[in-house]
Amino acid sequence: MSKTIRQPLTLATPLNTTFVGSRVLVYEEVTSTNDRALALGGDGLVVAADMQTAGRGRHGRSWHSEPGLGLWFSVVFERPLEGLPLAAPLAVRDVLKAWGEAIVKWPNDVLLNGRKVCGVLVESRRNRTALGIGINVHHTEDDFPFELRDRATSVEMASGRTCDRRELLRDVLVRLDERVVQLRGGGFAQIHAEWSEACRIVGRRIRHEGIEGIVQSVDRDGALVVETPKGRERILLGEIIELDGA
Ligand code: BTN
Repeated sequence: MSKTIRQPLTLATPLNTTFVGSRVLVYEEVTSTNDRALALGGDGLVVAADMQTAGRGRHGRSWHSEPGLGLWFSVVFERPLEGLPLAAPLAVRDVLKAWGEAIVKWPNDVLLNGRKVCGVLVESRRNRTALGIGINVHHTEDDFPFELRDRATSVEMASGRTCDRRELLRDVLVRLDERVVQLRGGGFAQIHAEWSEACRIVGRRIRHEGIEGIVQSVDRDGALVVETPKGRERILLGEIIELDGA
């Protein structure tokens, strides 16, 4: 179900950032903002779109990007930046705290009041990286496919308030820039520690593709190190089921 675009997706005010937003391009429609960002390049370039015709998520899934309902954007980095997949959800969480109970969830999601509101997809081609972020903003329950309705939410659904995507975009880019400054200044260890703590996964019993065990730690790549009856396993991708509380 699509809706009229409520306001053109521009930036509410100029950004006073160091890296992120060196240029900001907003399209009515792209296949995927990650594709466009990787094709164009330019460190700090932000590519946003009102609609993606082939938006994608992790594990080759498609990412529903209906016209005007959410914030779909990507940021380009021209050299590898370790820790981006951890830093980005922290930045989004910090902004979304103003809209409900925002938490990060392994591997790179942000939940608002217990449901997924944001996903992150980092893709690289040679030395160029696109950090893609999708945030559900104006959606109502009917806007999500049936199978996602009990797991997905939007900023407006969770908060019961009207959200201006232009302001949200600005706020997220500013927070993201702070995290990029931190990472480029050698702050990976701090971000890694903050993220490991925030996603509250260490010490929990999980199941993943038939393997069950206790999460010992989260490694530098964000993979779970799990102690199982058959020894240590490393889980970087896929769905996990959390079996009991920490
Ligand atoms: C996930 O949770 O599976 C990750 C979803 C990432 C979606 C965003 S929307 C902007 C960017 N462009 C894409 O095609 N995907 C990411």
